[in-house]
Amino acid sequence: MTTNRTFTMLKPDAVEKGHIGAILEKINASGFRIVALKLTQMTKQDAESFYAIHNERPFFGELVEYMTRGPIVAAILEKENAVEDFRTLIGATNPADAAEGTIRKLYAASIGENAVHGSDSDENAAIESAFHFSGREQF
Ligand code: RTP
Ligand code: MG
Repeated sequence: MTTNRTFTMLKPDAVEKGHIGAILEKINASGFRIVALKLTQMTKQDAESFYAIHNERPFFGELVEYMTRGPIVAAILEKENAVEDFRTLIGATNPADAAEGTIRKLYAASIGENAVHGSDSDENAAIESAFHFSGREQF
């Protein structure tokens, strides 16, 4: 089932550098409707659980440290074909490989600190949205 919704986080580096407004503007201008939005901070346990699929990877410790070091902006976005179109908008994991004009090309510093998260499937979008938002926080 295609839900037309995806989940994103503006990661701590993007928030630290003052890029919240510019990134949300780009998301809106690209046709996504914001249906949930909050500034929040992940605990170590949150980050370990959110990125559990990577827990055997050599960068896992760094990833958890990075994702918990400051606030993030969590959001749910709505658009036809949301998951795939948002992955296109953010660009490759490594900003060095990201296409011109993508959010990671514009705002990410490195493969580790890459400014933004985007769900990789409808199933994960639903799981990740429920991780951060209650039903009454979703419009
Ligand atoms: P995300 O889940 O955050 O949207 O990123 P992604 O799908 O593009 O990449 P993924 O493979 O799921 O990796 C999750 C996050 O782990 C960090 N990472 N660091 N140092 C490294 O080699 C490395 N590789 C991945 C990045 O923050 C990446 O977004
Ligand atoms: Mg991923």
